[in-house]
Amino acid sequence: CGIVGYLGPRPAVEVVLAGLRRLEYRGYDSAGVAVVSEGSLRLAKKAGKIANLDAELAGAPMPSDGVGIGHTRWATHGAPNDVNAHPHLSYDGRVAVVHNGIIENFAALRAELTGSGVRLASQTDTEVVAHLLARALEDAAPGSGPADLADAMRLVCRRLDGAFTLVAVDAQDPELVVGARRNSPLVVGVGQGESFLASDVAAFIDHTRDAVELGQDQVVELRPSGVRVTTFDGDEAEVRPFHVDWDLSAAEKAGYDWFMRKEIYEQPEAVANTLLGRYDVDGALRLDQMSIAASELKRIDKIVVIACGTASYAGLVAKYAIEHWTRIPCEVELASEFRYRDPIVGPTTLVVAISQSGETADTLMAIRHAREQRARVVAICNTNGSTIPRESDGVIYTHAGPEIGVASTKGFLTQLVACYLLGLYLAQVRGTLFGDEVERLMAELEQMPDTLRGMLENQDQVLKLASDFSDNPSVLFLGRHVGYPVALEGALKLKELAYIHAEGFAAGELKHGPIALIEDRLPVFVVVPPRGRDLLHDKVVSNIQEVRARGAFTVVLAEEDDDEVSPYADVLIGLPKVSTLLQPLLAIVPLQLFACELATLKGHDVDQPRNLAKSVTVE
Ligand code: G6P
Repeated sequence: CGIVGYLGPRPAVEVVLAGLRRLEYRGYDSAGVAVVSEGSLRLAKKAGKIANLDAELAGAPMPSDGVGIGHTRWATHGAPNDVNAHPHLSYDGRVAVVHNGIIENFAALRAELTGSGVRLASQTDTEVVAHLLARALEDAAPGSGPADLADAMRLVCRRLDGAFTLVAVDAQDPELVVGARRNSPLVVGVGQGESFLASDVAAFIDHTRDAVELGQDQVVELRPSGVRVTTFDGDEAEVRPFHVDWDLSAAEKAGYDWFMRKEIYEQPEAVANTLLGRYDVDGALRLDQMSIAASELKRIDKIVVIACGTASYAGLVAKYAIEHWTRIPCEVELASEFRYRDPIVGPTTLVVAISQSGETADTLMAIRHAREQRARVVAICNTNGSTIPRESDGVIYTHAGPEIGVASTKGFLTQLVACYLLGLYLAQVRGTLFGDEVERLMAELEQMPDTLRGMLENQDQVLKLASDFSDNPSVLFLGRHVGYPVALEGALKLKELAYIHAEGFAAGELKHGPIALIEDRLPVFVVVPPRGRDLLHDKVVSNIQEVRARGAFTVVLAEEDDDEVSPYADVLIGLPKVSTLLQPLLAIVPLQLFACELATLKGHDVDQPRNLAKSVTVE
């Protein structure tokens, strides 16, 4: 979602709307604004793009003085309609709030509020915050309780779990805008006699280039006298001012040249968001919107994963993990193939439909067909309220945030995480994993954002490789086990972005045909599994020797201290140590960057490659 707040002499509605337009890339399910003018709150919000809100405001203009907040939504809780659009108002109409993120304990807070007689208008987690703020202000007695909205915000934030950015205004305090930040981004723009809050600097770059970055668990107050930042406990916080020297288009991409590159670097956060709230303190996986009873899941005797493109490669990884953990046979099929071949599915089949957009026609037709055969369908999807989850029995949302680059990156990584969660969930329901296996794997997954962050800081080698190979007409990718889908996805990225002939092969299959392609200096990327107790690792090392003996230039992705493979690597790209089944989360990252960089060097439009569309809504 995109958030804007404004305090200053200009017409607040206009400044806020202009800011929202700059943030529309962050989501466009709905948009809304609220201003405080002459002691009361005025609000307008509308489902769909900002243009719909513009039309609404043209019919009923808002006052042009006062402070304002606004929001462009990318739905998580509740369908993308007018009611669920932000801002949300408190029961007494005094407080308006916009929010980005997920409040994990909202069910408990909601129950508390309804228990004390508050009626909630929407299905959002955000509305709960508006009521809690109003209640805090109402409870304030002289000398005790919160003195103003900023105090109330600190009080309420201490009660919230999850990731959130909040911006709020109080009808009775026209000289104050309050923001709070945990995890989701929020920056402050400091102008001459005016100040701004926004999800990113693009929203206010026309007005000021002086910004302050908010830290974790901080509250910011915009007042005519200036900006104040505190912790949730009310202690003064140290602020980090910075100057924005990007131009506008760079600002929307947070300084990156492409949305795709930005999205690659957002992967640690995206993975953390997929995991958020899905693993209880008591060690149980929680997939709230799974909506298929445990008793039914116990009867499932076959799983079929259907998807297209990158999502289908996430499905291939899922097969290895799900079969290993649950012992349920799992097939993976391209949605376009599945639909028209009379597949065998029935009431005891679980169909898993993976789709970033949730609108891919091939996948949609496949799930419709599966449901006609009475199969149960669960969607793994990144887009709230899209068609595929709506037509499925259950859904696991990936919460990766909008993916703009046509070639999927954070979409893929979060699909993998959702598949792992599903596999572990099924294993828990059916009792197929023993000892502390779930705990161990979840601990590893929860470590993953940090591991990815560390890896992303250190990718110069890959960028250099892209410049070395920029004139190569062909590149091969090899992998075994879960490294095989990684090879397929690495090759797909290169085809999509750099328009280079690229193929992914199962490393063991090489000798049965594709090895004929190897010629002198042909670049071959090989994904090497972690060194484990089985022979998998050694088999791949042998495969590397086979291609190298025939002149290939080998780029080897292996554990950073793997000295068994290093003698056969012309270039060694080190991967942190993780379990074999989770390794795709790391191994794909250098391949994404490689393709992005190579395409950039070739002068291609990385975000919108020729002939492709982000979401293909025709069969
Ligand atoms: C299109 C995109 C691919 C994507 C595929 C599936 O072909 O260009 O990048 O992997 O659709 O999209 P979905 O939204 O269903 O994951």
